[in-house]
Parts: sequence; C-alpha cells; structure tokens
Amino acid sequence: MHKKPYDQFRSARWFGPDDLRSFGHRSRAMQMGLSREDWEGKPVIAILNTWSELQPCHMHFKDRVAFVKKGVLQAGGMPVEIPVHSLGEQLLKPTAMLYRNMVAMEVEEVLRANPVDGAVLMGGCDKSTPALVMGAVSMGLPFIYLPAGPMLRGNYAGKVLGSGADAWKYWDERRAGHISKEEWQGLEGGIARSYGHCMTMGTASTMTAIAEGLGLCLPGASSIPAPDVNHQRMSAACGRRIVDMVWQDLTPDQIITQSSVANAVTVAMATGCSTNAIIHLIAMARRSGVPLTLDDLDAIGRTTPVIANIRPSGKDYLMEDFFYAGGLPALMKELGDKLDLDAMTVSGRTVGQNIAGATNYNSDVIRSLRNPVYGEGSLAVLKGNLAPDGAVIKPAAMDAKFMTHRGPAMVANSYAELKSIIDDPQADITADHVLILRNAGPQGGPGMPEWGMIPMPQKLLNEGHRDMVRLSDARMSGTSYGACILHVAPEAFVGGPLALIETGDMISLDIPNRRLDVELTEEQLAKRRQNWVPPKPHYERGYGWMFLKHIEQADKGCDFDFLRTEFGASVPEPEIN
Ligand code: FES
Repeated sequence: MHKKPYDQFRSARWFGPDDLRSFGHRSRAMQMGLSREDWEGKPVIAILNTWSELQPCHMHFKDRVAFVKKGVLQAGGMPVEIPVHSLGEQLLKPTAMLYRNMVAMEVEEVLRANPVDGAVLMGGCDKSTPALVMGAVSMGLPFIYLPAGPMLRGNYAGKVLGSGADAWKYWDERRAGHISKEEWQGLEGGIARSYGHCMTMGTASTMTAIAEGLGLCLPGASSIPAPDVNHQRMSAACGRRIVDMVWQDLTPDQIITQSSVANAVTVAMATGCSTNAIIHLIAMARRSGVPLTLDDLDAIGRTTPVIANIRPSGKDYLMEDFFYAGGLPALMKELGDKLDLDAMTVSGRTVGQNIAGATNYNSDVIRSLRNPVYGEGSLAVLKGNLAPDGAVIKPAAMDAKFMTHRGPAMVANSYAELKSIIDDPQADITADHVLILRNAGPQGGPGMPEWGMIPMPQKLLNEGHRDMVRLSDARMSGTSYGACILHVAPEAFVGGPLALIETGDMISLDIPNRRLDVELTEEQLAKRRQNWVPPKPHYERGYGWMFLKHIEQADKGCDFDFLRTEFGASVPEPEIN
C-alpha cells in the first residue's frame, strides 16, 4: 500500500519544524492537554460536525462524534472536532439554500486554514450534504462523508407517516375540512419520532444516496437509520478509514470522476430522486471539474427506471424499509451494468467490489429493472420559449393526466399574492389553469425557496381536485409531489421570459417531448420586454449582497461564479510563518 511520508503531511508543517513558530503551535496544542504522542507521526483528522440545537436532523451528532473519534484513535490518527454551520431545513429562514454556498466556503477555508490532513464530514439534512462535499472537494484533502441516516417511520393513530409528503397530504385534507384540530396536533407529534433526516426519498435521502453513489461514503452508510446501533459502528468505521485514506493519499479527484458522477446520477434517478438533486449534482460535479448539464441528467433519466419503491415516487415504503431490504448496495446491485463498477470509492475498493456481496431482501421495496416502480427516469428536463435554459418536473410523482396539458396562466408575482388566490374559495380558477408563482428563484426568493409545490387553491380542493399544473422559478421540497414545474431558468427576477407572462396567456406542457412554452410569438415577447422593469435587489449589504452579485442560475447549480474549479484549484496553501 502506498504510504505518504509523514513529513509531507500538512499537519507536520505546523507541528514538525524546530523553530519559534512551531514552538507556538506545539505549546498551544499542549495547552489543550495534548502531548507529542498525540500528533507526532500521525495524521490529524478534522471531524466537521454540523450539530446544533436548532438542527433536529443532526441531534445525534453530539453523541456520534465520539464514535468517529474512537475510530480515528484506533487507527492511529489524531481527531479534532470542528463545528461548522448547520443547515437545518425547517427552522432556518428565508431558506437553507441561501446558505449552502456559505457553508461550502466555510468548509473549504476551515480545512485550508488549519493543520489537518483529512476530514470526516458529518451531514445529512438536505443542503448539508452538497455544502460539505462542495467545500471539501474544492480544498482537495482526503475526506469521507458520514451521513446522518434517516429517522424512524412516522406514526400516529395506527397510520404510518412520511416526512413532508404526509404533511402536505393531510394539510390539504384539513383545508378541505376532513381533519379535526386534535387529529392535526396528533399528526404533528407523530410525523418526526426520532433524530435523523427525513425518511421519505426526499432531498436528504436522495443527497446521501448520491454521496454514496459518488463513492464518498462507506458502502451502505447512507441507508442506516439514525437510531440504529449500526450507525454508531459505521461512524467508528469512518474514523478508522479516513486515517488509512490519508496515508494512501486517496484524494477526492481520484474518486469523483466522469464515471462516478454518472453513477451518482443513475443512482439518483433509480431512487426517484428529489428535484433538488438536479441543482446539487450539477454544483458538486462542476466543483470537481466534471461538466454536467441538464441535458446529461435528462439523458440518464430517460434510460433509468425508478426501482426504489419509496415515497413520494414509490407507493408504500420509507427509508427504514429500504434499509431492511438491503439499502443502497442492494439497489446498486440491481442497477448492475448501468453503473461503472470500476469507479473508485473511499473504501479503497471499487463500486463493483463494494456491492459484490449485497443482497436484496425485499423485491417489493427494491425492485428489479424488469419490474420498476416507474418505467422511465423520475425527473424530466423541459425547455421551450418559457424556459430557454431549462426547467424540471417530476413525472413519477404527479397525476399522469398532466403529461401533456394546455391551459391559461394564473400569475402571482409574490407568495403573498399567491396566497390571496389559493385561500379564496371564490377565486376565478379552474383545474385547467396553470398556476404560476414567479420571483421565487435564486435572486428573486431570495435563495430559491421551496415554494414550488404551490398549495392547491381552496376552491379546487372543495371541488375534489388534488393536482393541477403549477409552475415557478422556485424549488420544491423533495418530499413534495404534484404536477409542479420548477427551476424555470432564467428566473423572472433577472428578466427571464417567465417575467413577461400575463394571466390568461396559454401555456403548453408536453413532457414526452420535453417542451414548455407560452403561446406568444417572439415579437409579442420582445414588445412586453421593453416595458419590463427590473425589481429592486433584496440586499444592499452583507452576505446577501454577495449572494446576489455572484449566484448562478439553477441550470448551473446555483454556485457562486467565483467558486468554479479554475478558481478553487488555484488557491495556495497558507504560509506557515
Ligand atoms: Fe432535515 Fe428534512 S428537515 S432532512
């Protein structure tokens, strides 16, 4: 096994030399109760912990980090726990997405500025996975991703409850008058019964599966429920493994390649992934120097069936069932040759070696390619005069009657305006309308909030409708469902064609042919554009100001323009003086 010489370790540059500066480094380490035996000849491993008392999905990280440290010590490394900002999806406003790139920057710089040789990244709640991975990729040290694991199934009054998906479903029923206040409060207490991330195949489960598909997790790590004792053992194994990775100098550029990105996309499509995955996949791939476009994603989607029968794309099951059925290794084994089995992973073995012994214990939860939940990829990329740079829809989780649709637009310029439409039992809207929310994109939201699963209008709920075509430049939660067209690019706030639509314009959706158009001529659009006035930016100072100056559109992954690979790769190591 290749063994990197200790004097080439980054930490050795801080602690090794016999000079005044290193005297300071060593004496301050000793101030913390450490002695030479703790660091001499050993890799220093940063454990980036996203624990916070406002982050319910990561509550167990306070306990779990002890297992990571134990593993690092077992393997002869020196663990150092470093807190980083936690991206709690529910409590953080205006949206965790506003801060994804900020955390990516924090991760990159915290690794660069400190005497560390490798890292374990502890994340799981939606944006935490891409944020941690993007930052660590840009820094380039060996790292391993430790997923938080899904929470237990929800339960109330004998009913199994799924994160998000059942909240939307029962909220519609409550608004239709079918659920009492007491029942609603019972659902509130039963839908999230343990720590861990959302247990549907929402953004969190999708992103941790993608991290494993990229080769960044130990095999099977992403499927272990957070409260399962296997999660503790996996945490210790991450600690042991990262020490070996540092000695082997197994850097992320050897793992994240064109092949592993294609594997991750295939895995995502087979899980019936969250629409958010599209944005994060593009951002992570671009940080890694691997070009990935919406068209690439659509092409893989068209040939990859959904085989994870997990809600919301699947019908009956949740992540706990997925784990008992064999988890992600079993799903990857079903995908077989659709994956590049020679791709390298953090385990030091290839994908093929990792999944060779995987078993599918429940063929209804993890289907075969011959018996999929949904025959074609769960996501479709649409283009047309309404979305020249693309839009996304999830056909696997919507009423199939909307695969082709033509209907008049009903336009809301803001969420407040939208609410006045959806809460009005007399609103002038029909099930054929296309309900549009604009100014909810990366700049308009700001931060592209998850407003894209626009609630069904009260009037239509009362008439018995539960789905209609909705359209926005926002994102939607990965646990959402419905005929919701999302991520329209360019967004309305920067003058995309969406800004020019008026109530009553005819919108045409053709998912089989991947088209999204407004029935207006180029001349009509150009005429309206002359009268369009750009809205005032949301921020004039601070992080928000920087965000608005540099955020890219959804089809580019919503990264900052100055964090592209060519910039990140040229950042020098800090001087030790
Ligand atoms: Fe954290 Fe859903 S709220 S994963």
